[in-house]
Amino acid sequence: MAKATDPQIHRNFIDGEWVDSQRGQTLENRNPANNDLIGTFPSSDQRDVEAAVEAARRAFRSWRLVPAPKRAEILFRAAERLVARKEELAREMTREMGKILVETRGDVQEAIDMTYYMAGEGRRQFGQTTPSELQKKFAMSVREPVGPCALITPWNFPMAIPSWKIMPALILGNTVVLKPGEDTPFSSCRLVEVLSEAGLPPGVVNLVAGLGADAGEPLVRHAGVKLASFTGSTETGRKISQICAAALKPCHLEMGGKNIIVVMDDANLDLALEGAVWGGFGTTGQRCTAASRIAVQKTVYREFVDRLTRRARALRVGDGLDPETEMGPLINRQQLETVTRYVAIGSEDGARLATGGHRLEGGAWDKGWFFEATVFADCDPKMRICQEEIFGPVVSVIPVDDYDSAIEVANGVGYGLSAAIYTRNVNRAFDAMRELEAGIVYVNAPTIGAETHLPFGGIKWTGNGHREAAVAALDFYSEWKTLYIDYSDRLQRAQIDTGAFGAKGE
Ligand code: UN1
Repeated sequence: MAKATDPQIHRNFIDGEWVDSQRGQTLENRNPANNDLIGTFPSSDQRDVEAAVEAARRAFRSWRLVPAPKRAEILFRAAERLVARKEELAREMTREMGKILVETRGDVQEAIDMTYYMAGEGRRQFGQTTPSELQKKFAMSVREPVGPCALITPWNFPMAIPSWKIMPALILGNTVVLKPGEDTPFSSCRLVEVLSEAGLPPGVVNLVAGLGADAGEPLVRHAGVKLASFTGSTETGRKISQICAAALKPCHLEMGGKNIIVVMDDANLDLALEGAVWGGFGTTGQRCTAASRIAVQKTVYREFVDRLTRRARALRVGDGLDPETEMGPLINRQQLETVTRYVAIGSEDGARLATGGHRLEGGAWDKGWFFEATVFADCDPKMRICQEEIFGPVVSVIPVDDYDSAIEVANGVGYGLSAAIYTRNVNRAFDAMRELEAGIVYVNAPTIGAETHLPFGGIKWTGNGHREAAVAALDFYSEWKTLYIDYSDRLQRAQIDTGAFGAKGE
């Protein structure tokens, strides 16, 4: 089976082979904790995209005809391999992405869950059978694959997010070309390697590494690509949407978030605090689901801010491979600069910097992109740090008078991915489930932690109406085909021959 052989030099995966990019340029992939070289990866361009899409087109002709339960067997084997290699894959992922081992294990687990789940769909993919309005006529609907899919994924979940897109696409009979985030191609290569080892025929999954402008854009534009799915920034998502709109190409976008945890004064404060720390600083805040805003009812506000500040200050920052570490580095210099800029903006706008706000510097720190866990208190909900996605360990705490103003604050942003409320009042919890403008709402749990068998996605600037995971993903990666079989041996006209049973007369 094909393997990415040299430990340092990695390649694209096209038509079942690991191949160099045609122009021979590469990008370095470095550990964000210590600058170690993970390896080099192709910096692909249009020509590599052409080859990958061509392979995907060829493979589609036969893959779409493989019975779905047989496709499922390959996915099932891939899931088993991921289980067997989980620890190794998690360690590699911490090296390339930086988040702590507990979280990279979770990332691999999410890919495992998704792969098993979609393998199960091999024996479901149910359509409808329903009566026809006419006699001797049979009516049903079936799902059909769309064709070669362009999948563009970010660096923060290097295995989970590719699996959210690859697995539903494959089980339905599509073929794919994946363009992984340029900061974390290695884990995505591993996922593709596992699929190939599990017996996926050549060309069904292809991977083209490189930059968005060089590789991602030509991929989405390619006429042979019939569908695009993207997770990343709202800015890039908008561009992809425009490209797809011009070609009438189905397009799924999963973009930014400005998620909130609402803490009411009847909440279990210890629990809310745990949730805020995990939701705000997990993955160093680099999740689209991160809790970057916390609205706290004034009656418990002081206590909550003090305790959150103490917890943030005590968080152990460091290399994610060290079992003591609670928060890893940021992904790269650019992200560090973005976070630093937002800290300055927050201070200028009058938020109170309760703790953090600086890069960790000196000695070994200088080799990585480490930033302190940062809490801004006394924030006004209209401040930029309360409106714009930062994607770093920065939490803005907003005091609120009561439940109604908490909901107003929660909904007063452009994004709508996830939202959480901590309360022990069941009426309020149910009201919040209805009122919070988000694709995912948690009660007494933080904004992160979506499971693979429920729809994942957001509203407003976060999404464009589609969902990932669960059965919802099947809707995006397939087209419905409706089938009518008339066995009356005569012309029967729907809507017109209404009188056959005496209802309206002929
Ligand atoms: C993301 O933040 O990009 O719910 C995905 C969660 C994870 C997925 C996050 N299961 O936080």
